[in-house]
Amino acid sequence: MTNKLFTPTTLGALNLRNRLVMAPLTRIRAGEDGVPGDLLVEHYRQRASMGMIITEGTWPVREGRTWIGQPGIETAEQVAGWRRVADAVHAEGGTIVMQIMHGGRISHPAISLTGRTVAPSAIAAPGEIRIPDGKTPLPVPDALTEQEIAGIVAGFVAAARNAIEAGLDGVEIHGANGYLIHQFLAPNANSRDDSYGGTPAGRARLAIEVVTAVSEAIGPERTGIRVSPEHNIQGALETDPDDLAATYAALADGLAPLGLAFVDVLHHEPAGVLTQSFRKVAPVIANTGFGTQTTRDEAIALIEQNVAEAAAVGRAAIANPDLAARWQHDTEENAADPSTFYTPGPRGYTDYPAR
Ligand SMILES: Cc1cc2nc3c(=O)[nH]c(=O)nc-3n(C[C@H](O)[C@H](O)[C@H](O)COP(=O)(O)O)c2cc1C
Repeated sequence: MTNKLFTPTTLGALNLRNRLVMAPLTRIRAGEDGVPGDLLVEHYRQRASMGMIITEGTWPVREGRTWIGQPGIETAEQVAGWRRVADAVHAEGGTIVMQIMHGGRISHPAISLTGRTVAPSAIAAPGEIRIPDGKTPLPVPDALTEQEIAGIVAGFVAAARNAIEAGLDGVEIHGANGYLIHQFLAPNANSRDDSYGGTPAGRARLAIEVVTAVSEAIGPERTGIRVSPEHNIQGALETDPDDLAATYAALADGLAPLGLAFVDVLHHEPAGVLTQSFRKVAPVIANTGFGTQTTRDEAIALIEQNVAEAAAVGRAAIANPDLAARWQHDTEENAADPSTFYTPGPRGYTDYPAR
């Protein structure tokens, strides 16, 4: 009998030939101008047999750029580059959505080149960031004004429209892993006392506004969001269980009426209440995070046990362009090489062999 993981499904308007989703994976190979070139086209084309590809986090506006070499979806050149990626994936019969990521305070003026870094509050994230001269502490960001927040929402909308213009099938708003939207959600990064902070509902407001505006622009059936409650990385800490539950309940309540294509939940306990609370919002794509690499057995179990509608897979999809076939036939896998995750060029990117 075929495992359900390898059977087709639809998430909103998105058609998946199997329930294996390539997780969003930053690989910083898009050059200084953030334009996808031949390397990205080939990388994503090779992985088109995944049920759906979610692209690496892609910046909507220059101020939201986190990494040198990260692609954008702001300029005409970037749209043209992404059109080549989408065409290549579609020619192989695949489905591809774009993760739109504003880095917020995980950035630096030397990366954004806009003279500043922005966040909900003027609180720096811990740690360092790589700029052209080497590593440097993450800067104290400027707190966004309400008027500037309206501009952030508009930037996500313009990026989503650009992604659709480029021929992608939909978008995923990045609300996870300590970037801008997650900075608003997390109480230790958001000390605002206006309507974008102060309470769990206030902190969830930006996420809801962005996803609502993007849904109105491109259709909720092509729109999803990624969240990572209590993942506690990159300085976005959610350590009070009551606050955590209230914040994500407010978010789920705000998103539920939209009829989204999916919610992509990164949480160590996919069968637990937090992840399951999003299933009333939309079909759920589950991933357990960085701790241990997702295995075939884990992905099969997520679907067989009706924990999620689809499974997001990161490192195994980096290392195996033909992962869907390998897992379906239970054949040996290539191991991912972390030393080439963030290096330029084809090595560790387009040279993992298919069988
Ligand atoms: C090299 C690398 C880059 C990543 N980039 C992103 C990203 O751009 N956006 C995101 O939401 N998650 C990102 N993640 C997290 C993955 O999407 C995924 O959640 C994580 O790798 C755990 O899944 P796995 O065990 O199947 O690898 C990244 C992970 C890795 C290893």
